Amino acid sequence: MPTIDVRGRKIDCEEGAVLRDVLLAANESPHNGRADLFNCRGHGTCGTCAVEIDGPVSETSAQERRRLSFPPHDLDSGLRLACQTRVEGDLVVKKHPGFWGQHAEE
Ligand code: FES
Repeated sequence: MPTIDVRGRKIDCEEGAVLRDVLLAANESPHNGRADLFNCRGHGTCGTCAVEIDGPVSETSAQERRRLSFPPHDLDSGLRLACQTRVEGDLVVKKHPGFWGQHAEE
C-alpha cells in the first residue's frame, strides 16, 4: 500500500488511487486558499490542483499536458495535476504558493 508524505503527514492509499481524491479525503487539500472552493472538481481544466511530486505516478494525459501548457502553468515546471495523477508507489507531495500552486521556485 503506497504512502503519501504531505505537509509532514503520512497517508496510506490504494495503488492506482487518484492523488487529489486521496489528499481531499485526508483533509490535505491540493488547492490553495479560495481555489479550495473555485476549482473544476477534478476535470483537469482549472489547474489549481498542481503539485510537485517525487515518486512513481501515472503518465501525463493529453488533458493534463494541455492544462499545464497554459499560463500560469508551464510544462517545464515539472508540476502535476493531482486530479489527473494516479498513485503508483510511495510519494512525497509538495504544494507550492500561488492560486494555482504555480510558484514552484518558491
Ligand atoms: S481540480 Fe481542476 S485541474 Fe485538478
